Amino acid sequence: MIHQSFHHSATGTWTHVFACEKTQHCIVIDSVLDYDAKTEQTSSESVDQIISLINDKEWQLKYILETHAHADHLTAAQVLKSNLGGEVCIGLGIIKVQETFKDRLPLGENFNADGSDFDLLLSNGDVLLMGQHAIEVMVTPGHTSDSLTYLIEDFAVIGDTLFHPDSGSARCDFPGGDAAELYHSISRILSLPDETKLCLAHDYPENRDAVSVVTVSDQKTGNIHCKTPFDAQRYIETRTMRDAQLAPPCLIEPALIHNIQAGH
Ligand SMILES: [Fe+2]
Repeated sequence: MIHQSFHHSATGTWTHVFACEKTQHCIVIDSVLDYDAKTEQTSSESVDQIISLINDKEWQLKYILETHAHADHLTAAQVLKSNLGGEVCIGLGIIKVQETFKDRLPLGENFNADGSDFDLLLSNGDVLLMGQHAIEVMVTPGHTSDSLTYLIEDFAVIGDTLFHPDSGSARCDFPGGDAAELYHSISRILSLPDETKLCLAHDYPENRDAVSVVTVSDQKTGNIHCKTPFDAQRYIETRTMRDAQLAPPCLIEPALIHNIQAGH
């Protein structure tokens, strides 16, 4: 199995691409559409690198996966789908996210908060196939109510749950977020085998290179929010205090409008 990560430096986002060497089937997780907030223009320069890779390798794109509806960047799901095909998938919890935001954002009168903008809504334990490799869905809410982790053999693509050990964990103060739920989700991730490769959704390093993959063991020994012993009450207090100091992501409104509609 092949794994490649692409860092989008403007938003600190990692896009993860996996491919089955035998069948040439591939998936893309958490793609990014370039967006200029001043002009409100989008462009596909970044995702075009991934489209070129898939075309050059003659891979077949099966699934375009989201770990959740992001609030800090726009998904390139529909650009990928229109160029390469594939089904756009997100967690079933997106319906709750859509219901939460339908009256808070200018979504248009035809917007339906029923998940129908996506091709597939995923639940805990669902399994997708990428050629000879299984992708198992694990629900990991807390940052948002639609958050998923994708388990692909010895990889886990963990979305906004844990970040690099020096950066801790994801915020829980968006509507639908819950620090106690994220504690439980992180506990599930940390119960995976120590050598499991955790694919990060973001990294915004200041004094080091961006890192796309760390292990469960790295998180248990070094993560500033969850190193052993990982205590529920202490985590929830730390997370809640930290969230009270955070500003909203600068692209929150365009990102949510775009992303809860699957990038349509
Ligand atoms: Fe997020």
